[in-house]
Amino acid sequence: MIELINIGRQFGDVWAVRDLNLTINKGEFCVLVGTSGCGKSTTLRMINRLIEHSAGEIHIDGQPIRGFREEVLRRRIGYVIQNIGLFPHWTVARNIGLVPRLLGWKPERIAARVDELMALLGMSTERFSGKYPRQLSGGQAQRIGVARALAADPDILLMDEPFGALDPLTRDGLQDELLSLHHRLNKTIVFVTHDMDEALRLADRLVVMHEGRVRQQGSPIELLREPADDFVESLLGGNSRGLKEAALTPVSQRMRPAAVTSDAPVIEATKSLREALSLMLWHRVDHLNVVDGVSKNTVMPADPAHILGGLKLADIVTARAPVGAPGGAQP
Ligand SMILES: Nc1ncnc2c1ncn2[C@@H]1O[C@H](COP(=O)(O)OP(=O)(O)O)[C@@H](O)[C@H]1O
Ligand SMILES: [Mg+2]
Repeated sequence: MIELINIGRQFGDVWAVRDLNLTINKGEFCVLVGTSGCGKSTTLRMINRLIEHSAGEIHIDGQPIRGFREEVLRRRIGYVIQNIGLFPHWTVARNIGLVPRLLGWKPERIAARVDELMALLGMSTERFSGKYPRQLSGGQAQRIGVARALAADPDILLMDEPFGALDPLTRDGLQDELLSLHHRLNKTIVFVTHDMDEALRLADRLVVMHEGRVRQQGSPIELLREPADDFVESLLGGNSRGLKEAALTPVSQRMRPAAVTSDAPVIEATKSLREALSLMLWHRVDHLNVVDGVSKNTVMPADPAHILGGLKLADIVTARAPVGAPGGAQP
């Protein structure tokens, strides 16, 4: 657990962060959002003491971080940033092994760990370990950045706009991978972004910052439904909040058990209501058949063996799940 208690940081006369209170639970995926200059990066860097806090206290598992030795912070906290994270004149393997080397691990143990991490991130050791950062695509370089941050098996991962410089398709893919890593490894993640769709998709808890303070925090659905004020509402997308909420809700939550007509377009149950709505608009229909992941998307008519149920426009529009409830399906 990470606790920030009345944290402040001054640069000259300006408070970049002020009276900030935030508790991040173990295993939580916490995303900080807010307009540029509101203090997100400063907050993140105070957690691993790249920046010292000038007021308040930060505790990790109940211990003030001021008392932590540097190597303890290094081992326990991984840090990923956009672009400039990798050393250009070092190979991929050497970059990933940075922290273990600093911690004095034996070379064989480092080599084994590098192999393990590259496998975890889906990159072939043979192909990539001897390459230099400039020989990698943006997405590959960010994967290596994540592998490096995980090298000493930290329990906390700090990520500052790690996917900000990537094209949308690569970014989507890495977001999926990060969510899957989070489920598998159960790390506490504090992630900074100014991309609201990214924030809504990744966060267990969303923290909206403004002028160095926490303006509102909660689950993505809570904030979309009940923004505390006009600022939060507009940051979350104003009138497009309905579509953002639909993007967070899987078709499986609203589908009815029976198939609709057999010639309807199909959608996979794991897709979002936003995609279902888009498909209805595109095909100019008000109903879809819902299929399992085995069937190919938008193939018509669906193979009956793969049909799980149906979805009507009214199921999307009217069956609203109450905040905090897992499902809102009403057959
Ligand atoms: N090293 C620094 N020296 C002086 N001012 C800084 C420094 N780092 C950040 N600031 C200021 O602190 C405020 C918050 O910055 P930052 O935490 O980087 O915001 P964000 O990441 O939300 O864009 C900004 O006004 C910024 O100009
Ligand atoms: Mg920043």
